[in-house]
Amino acid sequence: MIDLDAFIRGLPKAELHLHIEGSLEPEQMFAFARRNGVAIPYASVEDVRAAYAFGNLQDFLDIYYAGADVLRTRQDFHDLAMAYFDRVAADGVVHAEIMFDPQTHTMRGIPFADVIEGLLSAMAQAQGTHGMTSALILSFLRHLSEEDAFETLAAAQPWLDRIAAVGLDSSEMGHPPKKFARVFAAAARHGLRLVAHAGEEGPPDYVWQALDLLQVDRIDHGNRALEDDALVKRLVDEAMTLTVCSLSNLKLCVVDTLADHPIDHMLALGLHATINSDDPAYFGGYIAENYRAIALACHLDRPQLATLARNSFTGSFLPKDAITVHLKRLDAWLADHS
Ligand code: HPA
Ligand code: ZN
Repeated sequence: MIDLDAFIRGLPKAELHLHIEGSLEPEQMFAFARRNGVAIPYASVEDVRAAYAFGNLQDFLDIYYAGADVLRTRQDFHDLAMAYFDRVAADGVVHAEIMFDPQTHTMRGIPFADVIEGLLSAMAQAQGTHGMTSALILSFLRHLSEEDAFETLAAAQPWLDRIAAVGLDSSEMGHPPKKFARVFAAAARHGLRLVAHAGEEGPPDYVWQALDLLQVDRIDHGNRALEDDALVKRLVDEAMTLTVCSLSNLKLCVVDTLADHPIDHMLALGLHATINSDDPAYFGGYIAENYRAIALACHLDRPQLATLARNSFTGSFLPKDAITVHLKRLDAWLADHS
């Protein structure tokens, strides 16, 4: 029998919750700062890593937005995404749905076109070199206004056929999903799929709002849904995918220790949980490390890990026939490695 690490890396999987700006490694931060002539408030890579101790989501976001300042050119976005694809190809990722935060860049004067064209060219290259498919999720920053989100959707118009979905991220508390009901409805009218962070720090009511007022296709995180039995029933009945992020939950103090993580409970309840990396450069690991850490801490067995991988395909925005192909390949791989 292959060891756990080989099992996890070999398991064909999709990543459904990844902020591409959160894949900016400290080494890359220095390289981009140098080539763009941008000053950064750190003396060394070790200095950067030492700053990555977060008490909550906002602590992290402050550092994450500051880090993103080194991203200036189309080439930066291409290189950032390519480094991510190269890394997760080795983690068994065959499909990735990546979020990007255009407002983080357009508010600094970076053209929307440079951000998205850089990402799209890396996506095409990942398909060519790794056979990896990918999709883009345009995420609105929820601490900004509804009007700002509408402007961002308008800026995205020329690329709407290359964007799979819109999402909602940034500071959750005080910025409930209902603030974005109209912009999500407009995105749906353009044929975009919908996701939203909810229940990471925010209460179960925010998850209800994401379902009822935004009509999302997936919930990002969703941990606090467990506090509400009726909500759990609704999520199970609708087979709603939750994009759980193990190391993120640990680093942002959503759980005290990984052994306390409710992933096994989620699966036992019949929730369609998946495992993802969120912001791997900041939280200590890419997707395989997220599977490995939670498997060890919560004593997940191989059938449970296979269920998490299966859920990543059924919860993806791939066409139905592509999902069927991926599930068949997953089953064939499992048959060969059990
Ligand atoms: N939550 C909210 N916003 C984010 C996150 C997160 O985990 N990562 C990047 N932006
Ligand atoms: Zn996230």
